[in-house]
This record gives sequence, C-alpha cells and structure tokens, in this order.
Amino acid sequence: KEVHAAELERTFIAIKPDGVQRGLISEIISRFERKGYKLVAIKLVVPTKEFAQQHYHDLKERPFFNGLCDFLSSGPVLAMVWEGEGVITYGRKLIGATDPQKSEPGTIRGDLAVIVGRNIIHGSDGPETAKDEISLWFSPSELVSYVNDAEKWIY
Ligand code: TYD
Repeated sequence: KEVHAAELERTFIAIKPDGVQRGLISEIISRFERKGYKLVAIKLVVPTKEFAQQHYHDLKERPFFNGLCDFLSSGPVLAMVWEGEGVITYGRKLIGATDPQKSEPGTIRGDLAVIVGRNIIHGSDGPETAKDEISLWFSPSELVSYVNDAEKWIY
C-alpha cells in the first residue's frame, strides 16, 4: 500500500513536568516509536501559566483547573506531534485512563504514575482537540513531513 504521509492522522502528545523530571522521556517516546507511529514535531518548553490555561481552557470551571495550570507551567514540558493510522484514539490507549489508579497495567499511566494530578502525559482526546492543540503548541513550519522507509513494513 502506498503511503502519503500528509494524509495520516496526527495527535498532540505532551510529557508533563513530572514525566520530564522523573526521567521518563525516552521510556514514553519509545512506546510510541515501537508501536509504529511517526514523530513529526518535538520541542522542550516551559509554558507560561496563561499558555497552560489556554491549553486546558475546556476545564476552566473544574475545581482542579488552577492547580493543574500551575503544575503544567512549573517546569519543562516535552511537546510532540505523532502521526499514523488511528494515532488519536490509539495514543489515548497507550496513555491509559486519566486516573492512574484506574489505568490498566501496560499503559503509560498504569505502569508509571500513581495519582491523577501527576499523571505524566497528555494526549489529545479527539480530532478537533488534536487540530487545536497542534496549532496552539506548534507553528506549521515546526511540523516535519518525511517519508520513512520503515513504514512500508507498518502499512
Ligand atoms: P482530562 O482532560 O479530564 O483528562 P486527560 O488528561 O486524560 O485527557 O483532565 C486533564 C488533566 O487534569 C488530567 O490529565 C489530570 C488533571 N485532573 C486532575 O488533576 N483531577 C481530576 O479530577 C481530573 C479529572 C483531572
């Protein structure tokens, strides 16, 4: 099957300050890589609190919103865009349930986190949020399109 990279689905994935500082970057990236997804953008940033509030704007009425935004802006976040068939939904599967107490073993949160406020990773929850989050965190020129020859063995 011929693969046209530009047609494949993309999602926004971020390793939160707890995941970065606990040394889990390579562990998390390797799970997406080994699955067969393609990294098309990556950068390490310390978001401002205002930026964190924008990222989590859907949750602004929730009681944990302020603490969540303080946490996200408290240190470096590894922002990424991953591409591949079903990456939005399957990326959420790799991540596991929001509350690590309820995430299955084998998932990133299930294996590597304990409490909901420190659940180490974010992933877009649908096509619309993926589009919005990618454009919030990255400019179009930061997204790289390339042919990966290994993909002929994945698709
Ligand atoms: P949410 O978008 O519901 O979950 P997910 O990250 O799985 O898409 O919530 C965003 C983040 O808010 C979540 O990753 C951790 C934090 N949070 C809390 O701190 N307490 C809570 O009760 C919930 C539901 C989320």
